[in-house]
Amino acid sequence: MNILGINYVYHDSTACLVQDGRLTVALEEERLTREKHTVAFPVQALTRCLDIAGLTPKEIDHVAVSIRPSQDWTKKGVYGLKLGVKVRAFFKSEVLRIWLRQRALRAWFDATFTAAPRPKLHFVPHHLSHVVGSFLVSPYENAALLSVDGSGEWATTFKGVGRANTYECFGQDYFPVSLGWVYEAATEFCGFRPNYDEGKTMGLAPMGDPETFGETVSKIFWVNDDMSLGVDLSYFDYPTNLEPRCGKKFYAAFGQPRKPGREARFEPRHLDVAAAFQKHLEECLLDISRKLRARTGEDYLVISGGVALNSVANGRLVRESGFKDLYVMPAAGDNGTAIGAAFYVHNHILGNPRTCVHDNPYIGTEYPDPVIRNILEECKLEHQVLPPEALEAKAAELLQLGYILGWFQGRMEIGPRALGNRSILANPTLPDMKDKINAEVKHREAFRPFAPSCPLEDAPKFFEQNVADPFMLKVCNVRPEQRAVLPAITHVDGTARLQTVHPDSNPRYYRLLKAFEKLSGVPVLLNTSFNVMGEPIVESPIDAIHCFFSTGLDYLVLGDHLLGKRPTRE
Ligand SMILES: [Fe+2]
Repeated sequence: MNILGINYVYHDSTACLVQDGRLTVALEEERLTREKHTVAFPVQALTRCLDIAGLTPKEIDHVAVSIRPSQDWTKKGVYGLKLGVKVRAFFKSEVLRIWLRQRALRAWFDATFTAAPRPKLHFVPHHLSHVVGSFLVSPYENAALLSVDGSGEWATTFKGVGRANTYECFGQDYFPVSLGWVYEAATEFCGFRPNYDEGKTMGLAPMGDPETFGETVSKIFWVNDDMSLGVDLSYFDYPTNLEPRCGKKFYAAFGQPRKPGREARFEPRHLDVAAAFQKHLEECLLDISRKLRARTGEDYLVISGGVALNSVANGRLVRESGFKDLYVMPAAGDNGTAIGAAFYVHNHILGNPRTCVHDNPYIGTEYPDPVIRNILEECKLEHQVLPPEALEAKAAELLQLGYILGWFQGRMEIGPRALGNRSILANPTLPDMKDKINAEVKHREAFRPFAPSCPLEDAPKFFEQNVADPFMLKVCNVRPEQRAVLPAITHVDGTARLQTVHPDSNPRYYRLLKAFEKLSGVPVLLNTSFNVMGEPIVESPIDAIHCFFSTGLDYLVLGDHLLGKRPTRE
């Protein structure tokens, strides 16, 4: 039984393959086309999925798409009638967008599956693809379910419970009542790109005072007793015009927005708006989660959707919601809906038993060492080849000396975080390392923090975290006594977006952490995504070499190969 999963309508186009209930490959189109968050139909990702699995189109039984184009048109129509003329342009673009995407899907389907029997095509609603799909690959037999994003077909949340192969929906909210869009407005106000840079708003928030605008923000969006959301839409322009997100009343309440661009100045009000929206978002998610816990009596929560990438909020959910733990897919945004849709078909529609726990993010492309060697030789690049243990010891030594490493190993990660296979690594104990990487390698805003990786068993010594976090999605506190030890990964508020590393899921990265501990006494590395600013994470050795030579990286490890810009014997 082979099922192709596809996400392609909104952003982060992705393809995946589920074979006999196992997730064997998942690829984001952006990594192949090099256009970040691409909305293009994932033709390249689909082709590579089949290539990697060694399948022909004839062997595909089902195709699962993470949107149902016919969904919620009555609600959209009623909304349109209420708002009248202003909203027509929006509806035209929505209809046109869905029609164009459908046409691209049909063109690919007809060109790929030319002979009967053709696979059955399933359209799975967006939020079911998000959260029911996540639940079906979670480690939990039963769990409370929460999906929160900007919007799917028209819904912006899903609240319910998952049990075995099925689920119950308690309620949904619909555009324009959306936590995603409200948070995007705060992102826009801070001078960042909305629906793109929400992570920057989250990173900026600890610099501000959440109380300055706390009361005002609490009246702009809230959670009702029945878990539904409320939004005072008079503050926003997005309900009718989409852009800008903020309306006149927003500026009257908070002042002038920050100009876009890295050089623009942050005024205190920008920091305070980020702080207030972040804190109130956390409070709203906590409120819904506590209500879900009370209603379902379940011990675990599955959370999904773009807002589930807010790792600071997730950290608070772990600590304060009453749930014992929560599951978030590594690709919690729209990219993961390809996986969710495929498992919705496999487990819910076809009734197959649940056999997959999606706990391995390393399910992308891979380049064996002979291929890497050929590329290096073709490029005439001097390099050393080292056996695994010597390579790990050498890399640890270079990190200990303060060099910044590009680290390219094994299969590429799915999702927005580099998790030790397409990573830039550095020594987190050096006080100037954060500024150095921001300035020389990542070329990004100085306030933005970097994340740490640490073996699971060592994490409690350095971090106040008592659950595993292999996907870097639950921010926790760095232990107060360790903050001076790990200055490059400790954010201004004493927190860190920790990745816990287990030897079974990434043995080489685990061994590197241990080799670094031998030299430094600390089993923690600074880990940030391997990319040039504004580009997706590197996919191939050529991408990695390009990034190496166009940034201030000192060394590059490609499989068993080590390259340096200075003699490696240094
Ligand atoms: Fe979504």
